[in-house]
Amino acid sequence: MPALKGRHFYLGLRLVQRYNAAMKKIVILISGRGSNMQSIAHAAKEQQWPAQIVAVISNRTDAAGLEYAASLGIPTSVVVSKNFATRDAFDSALQLEIDRYSPDLVVLAGFMRILTAPFVQHYAGKMINIHPSLLPSFTGLATHKQALEAGVKVHGVTVHFVTAELDHGPIIDQAAIRVFDNDTEESLSARLLSHEHLIYPRAVRWFVEGKLTVKGNCVHVDVSSTDNIEN
Ligand code: GRF
Repeated sequence: MPALKGRHFYLGLRLVQRYNAAMKKIVILISGRGSNMQSIAHAAKEQQWPAQIVAVISNRTDAAGLEYAASLGIPTSVVVSKNFATRDAFDSALQLEIDRYSPDLVVLAGFMRILTAPFVQHYAGKMINIHPSLLPSFTGLATHKQALEAGVKVHGVTVHFVTAELDHGPIIDQAAIRVFDNDTEESLSARLLSHEHLIYPRAVRWFVEGKLTVKGNCVHVDVSSTDNIEN
């Protein structure tokens, strides 16, 4: 019954296409071990998000996270930053690579690059980052060292939209920990990581489920239906 087979095939194909069209496409950028990328990939699969990670891209060939992404069947690629003479040249090449996947969201997960304004503008409203401090405190590098030197009693991590000003975009979520007298950069980093792995996937999920509204510098999260934001 070739005609019937053909019709089934046609219907099946349409279903697959519709399903994919409803899925938000995520590109994740990493520079190193990629544990946040892993936590996002894990949550997306376990919680069956309406999203798929369409690529993991690194600026370094030795980024350990690439191997993990490949093991999940996620396409990976590398745009080697040190091969470019200028930031503009690198960002243009990176943008070309990212845009091959037409992403709805670009997730910076330990992507250790300062981005140019045109690049950031190109992904305005659809690029997010995780920064290991309670922004607006301690922007830039060595955030745990900065926190220890400032003598703060509470430290944390922030997920935010990326804007042209480094580590300053609208804040989506934060998690805080107490700083103890005997804390070191290493102990703070280790304690914060488990919080990162909770709040980053959750923020990405909010984005792909359309639960985020940005007004000026403030992000409203519509968690009325499902999430307990106190976690
Ligand atoms: C994390 O601490 C993140 O906050 C910072 O860089 C680190 C990346 O870790 N931006 P990983 O590569 O996700 O394991």
